[in-house]
Amino acid sequence: MLIKPKIINNICLSSHPVGCAADVARQIAYVQKKGTLEDGPKNVLVIGSSTGYGLASRICSAFGSGAKTIGVAYEKEGGEKGPGTAGFYNTIAFDHAAKKAGLYSRSFNGDAFADATKNEVIASIQKDLGTIDLLIYSLASPVRTDPKDGVTYRSVLKPVGNEFVAKSIDPFKGEVRVSTIAPATAEEQAATVKVMGGEDWELWIAVLEKAGVLAQGFRTVAYTYIGPKATYPFYREGTIGKAKEHLEQTSKALHARLQKSVGGGAWISVNKALVTRASSVIPAVSLYISLLYKVMKNKNLHEGCIEQIDRLFRDRLFAGKAIPVDAQGMIRIDDWEMRQDVQAEVAVQWDVVDGSNLHELCDVKGFEQEFLQLNGFAIPGVDYDAEVSVEVLEHGAIP
Ligand SMILES: NC(=O)c1ccc[n+]([C@@H]2O[C@H](COP(=O)([O-])OP(=O)(O)OC[C@H]3O[C@@H](n4cnc5c(N)ncnc54)[C@H](O)[C@@H]3O)[C@@H](O)[C@H]2O)c1
Repeated sequence: MLIKPKIINNICLSSHPVGCAADVARQIAYVQKKGTLEDGPKNVLVIGSSTGYGLASRICSAFGSGAKTIGVAYEKEGGEKGPGTAGFYNTIAFDHAAKKAGLYSRSFNGDAFADATKNEVIASIQKDLGTIDLLIYSLASPVRTDPKDGVTYRSVLKPVGNEFVAKSIDPFKGEVRVSTIAPATAEEQAATVKVMGGEDWELWIAVLEKAGVLAQGFRTVAYTYIGPKATYPFYREGTIGKAKEHLEQTSKALHARLQKSVGGGAWISVNKALVTRASSVIPAVSLYISLLYKVMKNKNLHEGCIEQIDRLFRDRLFAGKAIPVDAQGMIRIDDWEMRQDVQAEVAVQWDVVDGSNLHELCDVKGFEQEFLQLNGFAIPGVDYDAEVSVEVLEHGAIP
């Protein structure tokens, strides 16, 4: 079978197993080149481990620190009828590479919100690792079924209170558009907090603690985003921002609890804005990212997931000193994005960008390329005209 990008309404519906494996190999090589992280984590659980920041966290743990890793993700398998999701192939590629390097890895493809998944993961920690010293919580999900009452909640990306007139980019058509988004209802806001807030993170910690599998000094980190004021009405002050506030509050309660119980703690890391599966359909954020990429690349400050997480591990979490945090107690690995000179340039261009100067001011090509790379396309060195066998579709390409 030949696999090409299948993009409908700015969402990529296909993925390339060989390209995914090549991209995982690139990330592993980046971390290995940086050298071994002394005093890094040894037994790590990553929730949301198959793509984006979670995959990078797993790679940094395993290939930067020699850690045994357990990953949890929810991905569609590939097979005779067609390719699975990129995260499915990324996970296969990661497991192959870990095995080749003599590193323990176990990957669960299931719903992290469900009690059954939590129980299975705990059983495998007890059997294979004994305890864990790091849990990275990197879930990004549109839906969650609460295990207590079976009610299913759906998150929405909407402003809160007032409608939002958003300037956006369509990276594939190369257009700047203005769209108006109606505010969320109170119910939608609450549902988004239920899905993307801190409740499930807290549940994970509670069951792991109860099972006695948290090592002395255990740390947990969840990821958030803040960004510039121009995106506040939609992001920070919107439904997703409310969920992130809940996540951030949860970290405070968890920190106090873990300090007391195991001499560890919980942190929030504020990460940089990156092209993700959702970016190209999020109004305002897509335009902001395209402008930001151009400015950061010009200043030689651009980072992707692996560069961000490698820096988070080496310079913040495991730098052999107290973890540096801001006034709100959060780790800032978005420091380069939020640099005054970077933000000032983006703000000026935000006001003047339109269809006539889009390619000059925005990194449209970079956005499009990263978007394709998320699904294993546009990866240098991969032959996209070669047939992909059913065996590879089912079992992933062996890097
Ligand atoms: N992408 C950005 O620009 C950005 C910036 C700052 C912070 N963040 C935060 O980082 C975190 C990760 O974001 P990302 O962009 O890497 O996301 P992503 O979409 O690349 O990854 C999400 C992961 O969650 C897993 N997942 C989703 N639903 C699941 C479920 N029910 N059970 C188990 N696994 C499930 C997926 O399989 C995948 O591994 C999020 O909290 C996000 O808000 C993202």
